[in-house]
Amino acid sequence: MSMNTSIPTTDGFAEEINHWQTRIESIIADSLPSDNIEPHNLHLAMRYSALNGGKRVRPLLVYLTGLAFNAKLEDLDQTALAVELIHCYSLVHDDLPAMDDDDLRRGKATCHIEFDEASAILAGDALHTLAFEILSAPKFTNSAKSQQLSMLSLLAKASGSLGMGGGQAIDLASTNKTIDLATLENMHRMKTGALIKASVLLGALCAGSIKPFEQVLLEEYADAIGLAFQVQDDILDIESDTETLGKPQGSDQEKDKNTYPALIGIDGSKQKLQDLLSLALQALDKLPYNTANLAQLALFITQRRH
Ligand code: IPE
Ligand code: IPE
Ligand code: MG
Ligand code: MG
Ligand code: MG
Repeated sequence: MSMNTSIPTTDGFAEEINHWQTRIESIIADSLPSDNIEPHNLHLAMRYSALNGGKRVRPLLVYLTGLAFNAKLEDLDQTALAVELIHCYSLVHDDLPAMDDDDLRRGKATCHIEFDEASAILAGDALHTLAFEILSAPKFTNSAKSQQLSMLSLLAKASGSLGMGGGQAIDLASTNKTIDLATLENMHRMKTGALIKASVLLGALCAGSIKPFEQVLLEEYADAIGLAFQVQDDILDIESDTETLGKPQGSDQEKDKNTYPALIGIDGSKQKLQDLLSLALQALDKLPYNTANLAQLALFITQRRH
């Protein structure tokens, strides 16, 4: 089954999702160094790990937020690309034996299985730095250019030890241990929420500076869907199957990971998801823009089956 199918929202929105997925796929393909260029194996591993049919939720957030704020498409392309490269790097490293030790990702062998561990570490490193090369390039048009340093700083912070990287460290340090709900929530907000939040804010920044009250509302939306994304990821690890997920079902339970279902049960987790969806939609309601697509995306994130 293609990863681009089975969108559980309206037909119109499924087409919208498909459109942006196709667009970012070809931008990634054109932007990564060809595997004809030395070092061939590293470029092959990078392309293998980024061109493998992810859902592209973070690019979707960049595009749909940016368009709601009237940003230019060419700026959103580069920004969506940078964020997705960070995400792809994080998946390659997340699957390594020293981390989650998983052998399937997006329906294919993980990078370290297809290549080897050193190649996966280097491919992750190179995807990570390429993201900043792209976001710092002189390609941006005027509104986005004025925000470029802020955007770089935002993406760096969201990816680093106080964001995604730090969340991953807490995840690993707390595996096989019991943690409380506040610690779990903080870990999820860092390891997954931070990059999702950055995607929303970066999309808006492409249109120029954001008014303080708009930033507050965007952050409320982004915080809610960022946490919801990982709560649903935890639920799917239990309720879905390996073929649909494209990654090993039951991986969390097998490794005794701290997850929402492990701490508050499946029903409690589903209730949490609904509460977060309501928070996200309430924040959007107060924003003076057409946020219909962002509302659909919040629904998609909480109802997705993979
Ligand atoms: C999986 O992310 C890792 C998490 C942060 C939960 P996605 O579910 O967005 O993975 P892809 O990009 O669609 O494969
Ligand atoms: C990963 O969380 C978050 C990342 C920053 C990659 P998970 O370990 O739950 O992601 P999956 O389930 O392997 O995709
Ligand atoms: Mg993990
Ligand atoms: Mg994992
Ligand atoms: Mg998971």
